[in-house]
Amino acid sequence: KNIDWNPVMAEKAGYRHFMQKEINEQPRALIDTIRGKYSLESGDVFFDLSKDLKESLKDITRIVIVACGTSWHAGLVGKFYIEKFARIPVEVDIASEYRYRDLIADEKLLFIAISQSGETADTLSAMRMVKKMGAKVISICNVVGSSIARESHSVIYTHAGPEIGVASTKAFTTQVASLFLFAMYLGRQRETMSAGESREFLKELVGIPDKLEHVLRLDGEIEDLAKKYKDASDFLYLGRNVNYPIALEGALKLKEISYIHAEGYPAGEMKHGPIALIDSELPVFVIAVKGSVYDKTASNVEEVKARDGIVIAIVTEGDTELAGKADHIIEVPDVPEELSVFLTVTATQIFAYHCANLLGLDVDQPRNLAKSVTVE
Ligand code: G6P
Repeated sequence: KNIDWNPVMAEKAGYRHFMQKEINEQPRALIDTIRGKYSLESGDVFFDLSKDLKESLKDITRIVIVACGTSWHAGLVGKFYIEKFARIPVEVDIASEYRYRDLIADEKLLFIAISQSGETADTLSAMRMVKKMGAKVISICNVVGSSIARESHSVIYTHAGPEIGVASTKAFTTQVASLFLFAMYLGRQRETMSAGESREFLKELVGIPDKLEHVLRLDGEIEDLAKKYKDASDFLYLGRNVNYPIALEGALKLKEISYIHAEGYPAGEMKHGPIALIDSELPVFVIAVKGSVYDKTASNVEEVKARDGIVIAIVTEGDTELAGKADHIIEVPDVPEELSVFLTVTATQIFAYHCANLLGLDVDQPRNLAKSVTVE
């Protein structure tokens, strides 16, 4: 008699797919990534950077973040953090675009390469080019000893653990957490962020894994939405500010594993194009958590509804205003806007996962995609 067990199943620890396991590992991965990097008492943030690099960080005048795919989305979130906390201008680019431009780089530039695998060819090439021009290079990697990690002046490791699913999940959230802490580090070093402010943000960051558990418990509710909309041919994802990159990431997850066409858009740009697509067949995810852009995003919900679109709003718990306007709501715990991305992105990951699974697709190894792209 065959035994219904194999090593791969054991590795999945009871989950159907690696992606599902990795989504659920995010609270743990976040705890591992931030561990030892902060003091709640003093509000200080610590990174194990080389002494030279630490010194030269004081003199940098701008930052360029370069990455591909999901890692690029993490970079887009990182820009908000660094500009807010450290007041240094940040440019974020896709590696395959950046490297073919007429680059401007010198020793006053800090270049941050973000790569889960540490082997993405375009990111590695871009890094080598600016390093030659004198830029300081830091990488945010998940794989110890990978090419990008080895060739940068210092590495910030995400401690996500091995990520097997091709569609990135826990690598993304741990990259964002690393960028959040690094932005605080720079802010403290430059004194653009007070110790009091830093202590407040750290306290909130430390609370995120617990709140993420709460979002993971919405699995059944989100699966019901996937059952309802998995046959739609297109989706739109809207968000503003830190949640604009999450709109991009939510759409990317859906495309990658469900093969459903999806577009992520800054909510304010909707009227410059995507609004023409809205009809009663189009589900629109609107990320509208409480924060500085809440009112503006709430009016986007009304604009979609006025054109008969289907609104799935990701809102802050207790938001009765949008609950009355949207067709469906996914409620996430109340956290500062900057940190809401951990919760909103997880909701979109779970949705994409269930769509792909219900459609009977190969969630962990979607067609045409590779986990690590080492060709140009
Ligand atoms: C591939 C993967 C994506 C990943 C991207 C960048 O496209 O399928 O999940 O985001 O590469 O990979 P990296 O290892 O550099 O983060």
